[in-house]
Amino acid sequence: MEHTETAVQMPRINERAPEFEAPTTQGVKKLSDYEGKWLVLFSHPADFTPVCTTEFTAFAKHQPDFEAINCELLGLSIDSVHSHVAWVRNIKENFGVEINFPIIADLSMQVARSFGMIHPGESDTSAVRATFIIDPQGVLRAMVYYPKSSGRSIPEILRTVKALQTSMEHGVATPEGWQPGDKVIVPPAESAEEAERRMNSDEFECVDWYFCQKNV
Ligand code: BEZ
Repeated sequence: MEHTETAVQMPRINERAPEFEAPTTQGVKKLSDYEGKWLVLFSHPADFTPVCTTEFTAFAKHQPDFEAINCELLGLSIDSVHSHVAWVRNIKENFGVEINFPIIADLSMQVARSFGMIHPGESDTSAVRATFIIDPQGVLRAMVYYPKSSGRSIPEILRTVKALQTSMEHGVATPEGWQPGDKVIVPPAESAEEAERRMNSDEFECVDWYFCQKNV
């Protein structure tokens, strides 16, 4: 596939997410509207496409689970508000699912470009499947990019928000596939003395000095 080599501006984890102010299906939205809440900002390549429809119905199904953990959903594609409205109505008619989260109509591609959602190897004119998890202070905490061909797992995005919230609240890490209630990982010991203390402490379950877990 022919495409010109242009540098894609990428946001970075643990830095402020790019500011935006954009038209959506629920009026103009800005990043600052989400202050005090977690935000999952996600792009899809195009309205009226099958994989995107499966993702939207899954996001809608899990929206109450996101809201229960103080997390809002915000979609985006390079389509108009009219197209979004027509697609949302079509999803309700054909799949019986109401889409209640706003969707950015990013016809100028300003938001998509600032979040590095346009990957010319996929398309110059549509966004890849990008997902950004932004904390209540507007700091980007996680991001994932998928190609057009692979639909995302919405439960995995929900799980990642829960894992980030737990890590930030308790100063810990979470292992592969972690779910709330599972043990968490204690960050590596910073000294030989601390490593020794952990190995002999009831607070931690250590397999070895570098691999200690605990309950939170
Ligand atoms: C889809 O969501 O099914 C899709 C999106 C863009 C290109 C092809 C398929």
